[in-house]
Amino acid sequence: MRRTLVAANWKMNGSKDLVQSLIGELREPLSSLDNGVGVVIIPPALYVSDVSERLAGTSLALGVQNIARWDSGAYTGEIAAAMVADAGARYTLIGHSERRQLFGETDDDVAEKVQQALNSKLTVILCVGETLEERQGGLAGQVVRNQISRGLAGVSGQGWQSVVIAYEPVWAIGTGKTATSDDAQAMHREIRSLLAELGAPADDVSLLYGGSVKPDNAAALFAQPDIDGGLIGGASLNAQDFIRICQSA
Ligand code: PGA
Repeated sequence: MRRTLVAANWKMNGSKDLVQSLIGELREPLSSLDNGVGVVIIPPALYVSDVSERLAGTSLALGVQNIARWDSGAYTGEIAAAMVADAGARYTLIGHSERRQLFGETDDDVAEKVQQALNSKLTVILCVGETLEERQGGLAGQVVRNQISRGLAGVSGQGWQSVVIAYEPVWAIGTGKTATSDDAQAMHREIRSLLAELGAPADDVSLLYGGSVKPDNAAALFAQPDIDGGLIGGASLNAQDFIRICQSA
């Protein structure tokens, strides 16, 4: 169902100490938000159980940054969707640009992971976005369309209820450069019309923006009609910044 969401992607950062201090600082202010925003914390998988215990009794949800393409078996180093659900997480990022660029993840891998997630009743946060070169070449819309139509090729019917899309232009991630609110809105609108073409209930799918979202640009982005929240990297590691971003959603 379409709702406002702000998700904290910690990437490969953190420690037991950070889990304790950051969740300690976030728990109270984020539990008492009165703007209806759903907050999802996405730590490294190793800390999911720890974060889960510390979030107990709050409305904050938990996610992971990646899952395996397979159910179970001889896949050393991998973590199955069912294990993630078992550990108390409800969301998984899939196809983050760092996984696509650094680990060679393809749209076919993404599509398999989406199926795994849906089979285990996880909500997918599918990450899509173009590189600077692709944007400068006028290809941004086509790249994003391909990533979505291929990555979500196996989704139908009720499955759409468990899909969120995060548009994250690669050139804006961790760089301090953000798409203007107008450019971000234009891409989000295009994504929504693509979803309708794909037979999805387009108005019910939450679309997040990601890429250098900070307290001082969050409100303008979130005010756009087709932007339903954000996927926050760097700023999610600072409690005060993350709280301010959640407050502006
Ligand atoms: P950033 O990362 O906010 O640090 O740019 C966003 C992301 O990669 O999800």
